[in-house]
Amino acid sequence: MHILLTGGTGFIGSHTAVDLMEHGHEVVLYDNLCNSSEDVVEAIEKITGRRPAFVRGDIRDKALLADTMRRYGIEAVVHFAGLKAVGESCAKPLEYYDNNVNGTLIVLDAMRETGVKRIIFSSSATVYGTPQKLPLTEDHPVGTGITNPYGRTKGMIEEILADCCRADDKLTAICLRYFNPIGAHASGLIGENPNGIPNNLLPYVARVASGKLACIQVFGNDYDTVDGTGVRDYIHVVDLARGHTAALEKSTVVSGWHAVNLGTGRGSSVLEIIHAFEKACGHTLAYKIVDRRPGDVAACWADPKKALEFLGWKAELTLEEMCSSAWRYECLHKDAEAS
Ligand code: NAD
Ligand code: WQD
Repeated sequence: MHILLTGGTGFIGSHTAVDLMEHGHEVVLYDNLCNSSEDVVEAIEKITGRRPAFVRGDIRDKALLADTMRRYGIEAVVHFAGLKAVGESCAKPLEYYDNNVNGTLIVLDAMRETGVKRIIFSSSATVYGTPQKLPLTEDHPVGTGITNPYGRTKGMIEEILADCCRADDKLTAICLRYFNPIGAHASGLIGENPNGIPNNLLPYVARVASGKLACIQVFGNDYDTVDGTGVRDYIHVVDLARGHTAALEKSTVVSGWHAVNLGTGRGSSVLEIIHAFEKACGHTLAYKIVDRRPGDVAACWADPKKALEFLGWKAELTLEEMCSSAWRYECLHKDAEAS
């Protein structure tokens, strides 16, 4: 299949490109590089032995998008492109609605113009808001409990995709609700390398391990969890990438709108993550307990049953592999800023 990956040079897009290429698909990476680097194209070539096509462009540039879809005979879109920092979305809601929601409208318009009928969308467990019960199943209420503009863009985009599927019975939209993707490709050539001080736990821990940051701040140890710290469903980015390949294959035999969790079904606490990373890097890590971070939930993990039934996919890689691959990537990219 010829597949366009919006946001294809980003963290999850680059790993998905590798998996799709290894399954014989042709990919085109379309990215404006606002949060990634073109070096990723070369890294993917080193891993796969083939250079993916790359187009530098913004998803809000409909003419360039439609032209790219026609030029490469695109049959499906995996739509990763988006801004993703929760805190920044509270300070800059208009930028988030424009980039994520308006950007998606333009992707869908370009697909309609060029006759592309399949889209896989990067959604998030954040659409569930505060869990009413665990594990989270896909029929858990969505939308009402979302606590920030970033999350609301994901909820809105899911609804827009559902409306487009109602209007066109040949369209397939699969919303993949990611839990907490971490780790890196086993080669250490691609991974996650946010600019500035990381907001997410794993990249922060990796930078403390490499000595770039001094001490991990653990946001609260008085939650009702195994050790009082927050619990999340961390999933290896390579497993997540494989979930996209499975979804694309499924999109050739189903139509309509679907939502599927991509998680492991297991939760790990912040302290468990720190200790797993200590094993991976071979030394202890400094941490201190600080106040809870506003907006955080105590615990969140997926029910992954639907992914197995609908996509024939399940997560296989361990927490140990998540930490060791992230550490390898950190060691190889100590001096780089963007991934
Ligand atoms: P990332 O920032 O590494 O990748 C996103 C890519 O999109 C970047 O390369 C960026 O340059 C590009 N981009 C952003 N706006 C664009 C635009 N207007 N036009 C073209 N390119 C644009 O992030 P990621 O972690 O790989 O996330 C990919 C997708 O998955 C995002 O939509 C994100 O919201 C979603 N998601 C991520 C997580 C996570 O924890 N990483 C969890 C759930 C959902
Ligand atoms: C994990 C745990 C923190 C940093 C976010 C987004 C979500 C999704 C994934 C895109 C929590 C604790 C963190 C630190 C800490 N993204 N923590 N010290 O909040 O589960 O999810 O990323 O869709 O929408 O909200 O991930 O990695 O920030 O936090 O103690 O320095 O680690 O409190 O318990 P989160 P996270």
